Order: sequence, then structure tokens, then C-alpha cells
Amino acid sequence: MKPGNALLAQVREDVLHRTRRTRETATLRRMVRETRLAVDNLVYPMFVVEGRGVKQEISSMPGQHQLSVDKLVEECREAAALRIPGVILFGIPGRKDDAASEAYAEKGIIQEAVRAVKDALPELCVVTDVCLCEYMDHGHCGVVEEGRVLNDPTLDLLERTAVSHAQAGADMIAPSDMMDGRVGAIRRALDRAGFPQTPVMAYSAKFASAFYGPFRVAAESAPAFGDRSSYQMDPANGREAQREIDFDIAEGADIVMVKPALVYLDVLARARDRVNLPLAAYNVSGEFAMLAAACRNGWLDPERAFMETLTAIRRAGADLILTYFARDAARRLQGDARTPLSFM
Ligand code: PBG
Repeated sequence: MKPGNALLAQVREDVLHRTRRTRETATLRRMVRETRLAVDNLVYPMFVVEGRGVKQEISSMPGQHQLSVDKLVEECREAAALRIPGVILFGIPGRKDDAASEAYAEKGIIQEAVRAVKDALPELCVVTDVCLCEYMDHGHCGVVEEGRVLNDPTLDLLERTAVSHAQAGADMIAPSDMMDGRVGAIRRALDRAGFPQTPVMAYSAKFASAFYGPFRVAAESAPAFGDRSSYQMDPANGREAQREIDFDIAEGADIVMVKPALVYLDVLARARDRVNLPLAAYNVSGEFAMLAAACRNGWLDPERAFMETLTAIRRAGADLILTYFARDAARRLQGDARTPLSFM
């Protein structure tokens, strides 16, 4: 008998359940693990700007950059080499106006970026965010008249934007504007334009969240007046989130999304129970910044904190996670324990 077994053998009969049995060794823990995070689950968000050779770090998002198309292609090459299946691109145009003209311009920043990335990396799934806020001089996600964001006139512009992304070669269209009816409108526009095979990933339950702050600095898209609460959801509403998801499915969404992720894991879990479509969650800029800041202050263990976060989003039910941690997670999942974390 090995030493210690005598102590272990001192059992009391009133301990009925021993859940610790399957936690005893790393092998057992591996065998009973319920949730697995894989590189296949990751989508990496990136910001594209005009110019050449531009790689400008975003102040509140350490390790994340605004990239010109040439640098974007380099970073996408790195993501693809890490076997990250997809990226989602956000464009920052050189010129903004009150019709978001650059959003659907044939030579717009996103259109050029998509062409360049698809040309270099045909296998990489290039998702484009369809929204007007980065392209509008007032920073709202739709057409503004007399201080109000108009729904139906916005749909026409969203359709044009989505079709122009598909024409540039986008593999998936992700509308994030939260106008009513936009998923159906975009679906029909894509079909009419000859893209019936291009899937739509809908930002279905997108909340009017404080956690988009760093993104708005990165994408230069903060609204010039008011806020987004006449179109994005009230953070207090969980049931309404399920209705939003139902409508987007009825309108033809192929993937539905909950955004942000961490503060809305209940919404995600409820959606998982109700929905048979692939489910995505956006681990947004503020969630990234919050964790990075605490880790850089020495308040959290970065290696554990970011993987625990992504695992929790998977456990709540997400098939896909849009996350600025994608490259770091891909490296760790592939056994690279040495490359420094990009956010540290
Ligand atoms: C565009 C859009 C936003 C985000 C994704 N698409 C910002 C917003 O709605 O203001 C946020 C992503 C993030 O915070 O990481 N509408």
C-alpha cells in the first residue's frame, strides 16, 4: 500500500456523493469535460483604414490595431496560419457623409479589403459587418432626419451595402444596425443580386451597451448626438431578445448572434435552448478592454482569465465567438504556450 492510502481510506459513511472522484487526475478531468473550446469556434474582428503601411494601435485595446489593406492581409495571413476559420472586417472610410456613400461604394474601404484578403487567402471566411455608423457623418446606424433615425429608408442603404460586399467577394454578411426588417431585406437583395448562397449572420439580440466604447474609438463611429437606444435593445430586456432572434430566423438568418456576450450569458443560454440555428456571441471591445486592463495591472492571471472567459461563452451555448482574443486562444489551443499574449 502506498503511503497516504491509509488516510484516504478513512471514509465516513455519511458523505453520499463524491463528485471529487472524477476530478482526481488531469486525465479524468479531460474525460468528463463538458465544454470544448476549439479554434474552429473563433472569428477574429479587425479594423481597416485607408492608406498603406498603417498599423496604428487602438489605445483602449492593447494589441489591436487599425490596419491599412496591406497590413490587414498580413494579419489575416497570420490568423489563417493559426487555423482561425474566419475574420470579421470593420471599415473606417476616409470620407463620411449623411448617406453613408462609402459604405456601398465599389471602391470603398471594405470592398477593397475584401478583394485583397480573398485574393491572398481564398480559404479564409471573410465576414463583413454591415452597418452605416462608421460611414455616416453623424455616427448613427441609419438615415437621420430631424434628429430621428429612420427605419425603412435605412433598409435601402443596407441592401446596397450588403450586395456590394458580396460583389467584392465577402463570404458572409453580418448586419449589426438593428433596424426592423433588415435581415429579410438583405436576404432578398442578396438573392436578387445572384448571391443566394451567401449566408447572413444577424446581430439579432444587440443591446445598447456601454461595452462598445473602445470599438467606437477604434471605428471612429460614436454618435454625434443622442445614443443608440431607439434601435439597439434595452439591457433590461431578456424576453424581447428572444423575439428579436425569432424575427431574424423568420426573415432568413443563417446564424443568430447575442451581443455583448459576458453580461448577456443568460440571453445566450436561453437562446441555445430555443434555437436550432448556429448561435454566435460577440465578446465585445469593452469586455476585452476590461480583462486586458485588469491583467496588465497584475490583478488577474491573463493566461487563465481569457481562456476561462471564452470557455464560459461556449458553455452558455455559443457555437461561434467573435473575439479580439482569437489569435491568443488559437495559439494556446494549439499548444503554443510561449508566444506572449498580444494584450499584455
Ligand atoms: C456597428 C458595430 C458596433 C460593434 C459592432 N458593430 C458598435 C456599435 O453598435 O456602436 C461593437 C463591437 C465591439 O464593441 O467590439 N454598429
